[in-house]
Amino acid sequence: MTDDYFMSIALKLAEKALGSVAPNPAVGCVITKDGMVVGKGYTGIGGRPHAEVIALQNAKDLTHGATMYVTLEPCCHFGVTEPCTAEVIRAGIKRVVIATIDPDTRVSGRGIKVLKEAGIEVKQGIMQEEAEKLNIGFFTTRKLHRPFTACKVATTLDGKIATFTSNSKWITGKQTRNWVHTLRAKYDAIMIGSNTLINDDPLLTCRLPGLEDRSPTRLIIDSQGRLSEEHNIAKTANKVATWVITNKEVEKKIKNINYLIVNSNNKPPAISASPSVIPVPRHWDPENLIANEHTRQLCDKNWIPASRAGMTSGRKAGKVCLKDTVSKLVSEVGITRLLVEGGGVLITELLKSDLIDRLIICRSGKILGNDAIPFVGNLGIQSINNCYQFKKAEVIDLDEDIVEVWDRLL
Ligand SMILES: NC(=O)c1ccc[n+]([C@@H]2O[C@H](COP(=O)([O-])OP(=O)(O)OC[C@H]3O[C@@H](n4cnc5c(N)ncnc54)[C@H](OP(=O)(O)O)[C@@H]3O)[C@@H](O)[C@H]2O)c1
Repeated sequence: MTDDYFMSIALKLAEKALGSVAPNPAVGCVITKDGMVVGKGYTGIGGRPHAEVIALQNAKDLTHGATMYVTLEPCCHFGVTEPCTAEVIRAGIKRVVIATIDPDTRVSGRGIKVLKEAGIEVKQGIMQEEAEKLNIGFFTTRKLHRPFTACKVATTLDGKIATFTSNSKWITGKQTRNWVHTLRAKYDAIMIGSNTLINDDPLLTCRLPGLEDRSPTRLIIDSQGRLSEEHNIAKTANKVATWVITNKEVEKKIKNINYLIVNSNNKPPAISASPSVIPVPRHWDPENLIANEHTRQLCDKNWIPASRAGMTSGRKAGKVCLKDTVSKLVSEVGITRLLVEGGGVLITELLKSDLIDRLIICRSGKILGNDAIPFVGNLGIQSINNCYQFKKAEVIDLDEDIVEVWDRLL
């Protein structure tokens, strides 16, 4: 058996920890002796115990002279626990195979140095690319100080996420919706905009049998404090961690809900040439901007969406600043992997702020037409050269739908 073979088992183990270890990395570890697996482990919930410690315990008295395969460099600093390097040395491991170096400045190469100084043979770089992909959330927080952000949308063939009356249940089939629940389990948090909260009153939990305790933290972008005690999210906040992200102190806080105050995007409209006449379409209602903004766009090609002009729903100033939000999600909530589940206004703003790393499009065979709500709003792009570009990463065939995974090309 090759090093790649055992490392691929360690990677599979690490995958099981995704979504339950933030802000820590998900690590997998395999211990072999005479070509046989004698111990295995992956990071515990919340990040402890470390995978190496679990694998060493699992291998019992067979660790002396054994080989350890670990997807991330073992830690060498005293934190909540003793360094893993000390445990590896004490257990008499002869050889350590590492997929990738830990970007944490307290480790970053030092773990390897400590092992080598103890006379252990170390090999690094086995399945490195796969290991970095798997821990993309952890690596993104270290590099960019924000979570890895994927947007999941259920769209029609023509890229719409709801009818013009905001009806979106259901665009995709049951198998796809179940697949989304398994996806949720691999993320630390799910984010939605306040219009999705009001229109859909979702739960945003994992509801597949066996995955109930893997529901990610729920985040509502809600600058006007629209979440109320009657919403399903508020009713279940005693069971699933929930944060409202807003830009001002909320007067009436809801029990069990956490509030994250971020800066507001109070910039003046960035558009110089405003249309001289703004027609008010028949259905225009400033309190429900989204459905109606779309109607406005239909009525007037020159209409500048409020979102693009730096305004908010109902034309009140001060949407939450998304850049400040994602940075605080790392520093204050400890999120490394963020799944955005709409709607279109939030996705558009994230795209414009260059905060989307991955698009997960669950596409059905339905068509809703041009008056339906698109998953991305107006971007004002005049040349193809200025478009936002994504690279095809995966296509999954699911019963009546397909899932397309697209990664951002910068
Ligand atoms: N098919 C799908 O996958 C899918 C998924 C989700 C939703 N939907 C559908 O989409 C519709 C709702 O989506 P939507 O596009 O109208 O709205 P949305 O994206 O859910 O919410 C937008 C609202 O979020 C708040 N917000 C605060 N700061 C923001 C910022 N910086 N950037 C963007 N938004 C910010 C604003 O309201 P405040 O000023 O109140 O904060 C804004 O109006 C519903 O019909 C729903 O059924 C479909």
